[in-house]
Amino acid sequence: MSIAIPEIEKELTDPKLIEVRDYWNEHIHDLEIATEPLGSIGFFDQLDAYRFDKLHYLPKVVDFSSYAGKDVLEVGCGAGIDLVHFARAGANVIGVDLAEVSIDLARKNFAARNLAGEFRVMNGQDLTFADNSFDVVYGHGVLQYTADVPAMLREIHRVLKPGGQVIFMVYNRISWLNFMKNIVKVDLEHEDAPVFMTYSIKEFKLLLAGFDDVEIIPERFPVKTKLHKGFKAVLYNKIFVGAFNILPKAIVRPFGWHLMAFATKK
Ligand SMILES: C[S@@+](CC[C@H](N)C(=O)[O-])C[C@H]1O[C@@H](n2cnc3c(N)ncnc32)[C@H](O)[C@@H]1O
Repeated sequence: MSIAIPEIEKELTDPKLIEVRDYWNEHIHDLEIATEPLGSIGFFDQLDAYRFDKLHYLPKVVDFSSYAGKDVLEVGCGAGIDLVHFARAGANVIGVDLAEVSIDLARKNFAARNLAGEFRVMNGQDLTFADNSFDVVYGHGVLQYTADVPAMLREIHRVLKPGGQVIFMVYNRISWLNFMKNIVKVDLEHEDAPVFMTYSIKEFKLLLAGFDDVEIIPERFPVKTKLHKGFKAVLYNKIFVGAFNILPKAIVRPFGWHLMAFATKK
């Protein structure tokens, strides 16, 4: 399958953002787990199954079925895996991403499933949508990888309708995975990206100070890895995952690797 390169709507001038775009064109999230032909329905099904196995918390905290009829924008949509769930539930979806390869894949994902959705190569720090356009803006694993987070948040706030909701996920610096990284020296996925940031819960709340009703929910506790091999992976899969998951959630929750945020614009 060939990759059709869609056009970006405004040329990028910030060298850091150009680096971010080039990195993500080369490292589409989770692509390495798929064995089916690139762009086939089997390929997108594999990406979906892998993601919702690893992130089994996601449909529990984001009730995709409750967004029927809503206008949903995803910033940094990658291959559109999560947007499929919004669209299947009846939302009107638009996905934007800096990486042309992501947008091409997202379009193919929707076409393979006969779903309606619009996908555009666009900088989330400089959106071309009018003020107050969307009921929901979703960005899972995006703020921590972009060049200017306050600029992206300002843009998202601008295009969100009053009464609208934002849903974000960033990485928790004070988490079990950072602990593993420092003690066992494991590499974190995409920590080689041109921008890679982690936040404490307090810092994330401060970052979202321009929104209202901010609620942060730590999620993503250890699950067995399929990506890593060798002695460390065996120890991790056989001992650490089981031991961690028998601890009461009330104690371990603040140390979840993903900080999900829900907030509104009044
Ligand atoms: C870790 S991937 C996450 C993709 C998808 N949300 C997911 O969870 O699979 C980060 C994505 O954010 C995109 N991104 C980073 N900065 C961006 C920006 N300023 N505007 C639009 N997309 C951006 C990258 O191109 C990349 O596709």
